[in-house]
Amino acid sequence: MDAVGDIAGLRAALDGQRHRKIGLVPTMGNLHAGHLELVHECRRACDVCVVSIFVNPTQFGPNEDYGSYPRTLDEDLKLLAAAGTDLVFNPPVDAMYPHGQDCHVTVSVPSLAHTLCGEARPGHFDGVATVVAKLLNIVAPDEAFFGEKDWQQLTLIRTMVRQLDMPFAVTGVPTVREASGLAMSSRNNYLSDEERQRAALLNRVLNGIKTGIERGDHDYETAEARGQQELTAAGFDVDYVAVRDAARLVPPDADTHTLRILAAARLGRARLIDNVGVAL
Ligand code: PAF
Repeated sequence: MDAVGDIAGLRAALDGQRHRKIGLVPTMGNLHAGHLELVHECRRACDVCVVSIFVNPTQFGPNEDYGSYPRTLDEDLKLLAAAGTDLVFNPPVDAMYPHGQDCHVTVSVPSLAHTLCGEARPGHFDGVATVVAKLLNIVAPDEAFFGEKDWQQLTLIRTMVRQLDMPFAVTGVPTVREASGLAMSSRNNYLSDEERQRAALLNRVLNGIKTGIERGDHDYETAEARGQQELTAAGFDVDYVAVRDAARLVPPDADTHTLRILAAARLGRARLIDNVGVAL
């Protein structure tokens, strides 16, 4: 496995591989079983597996954890080598934003960037869309892999790729969970042992709403309010519990065929997100 930090070096390394199917797994490092599942999926579907590790400053708000976000490059490289990664792209910030972050071109997906997590994290999804567009253009993979845990991010990236006519396939990979049901996340490291146990309630609440819908309860607003109350009573600071159209992330309407139930809530130092799908 090779690791390169500059764009020209990455392109040169892939030059002789263009006749093979190239897959990209974008990450911010601090890898866990959820990321490794993306790598396995990429390995299964592609001939060449490229993983990027870049903690992207433009997707963090001024009071968020960019400075303290866990950076564990040596451990990540060992995990990626063992998982069969061919090439790692780990650029420094100035390789990605050589003219600074403020005057850089920004990619925005306005229909999806301001709702749900976008309300609590203004600018976050412009940062995500911009860096993912850059990574896709730099690596030019045939297929790119993203976790379903970040459903809003996945939906936004699919929309960006479609609307900008980018010639890349985007594949969502199901969320990997701890035995308790808690979705794997680098930010779970911020939880104490006791909070980690309590955090599993987030997924139970979403599954409770899903079960209700499957039994015929379509009063989504009441279900959202009940879920929010349950989490608040357990000490979560809830941003939202929402039942949405899975593809457009708007409240369900006559055109909705699949629902996604999504939630975001803070517990201690961690902001947790999770979602589950329901077919109608
Ligand atoms: O999901 C992530 O880890 C990041 O948002 C991504 C897609 C790598 C962009 O920085």
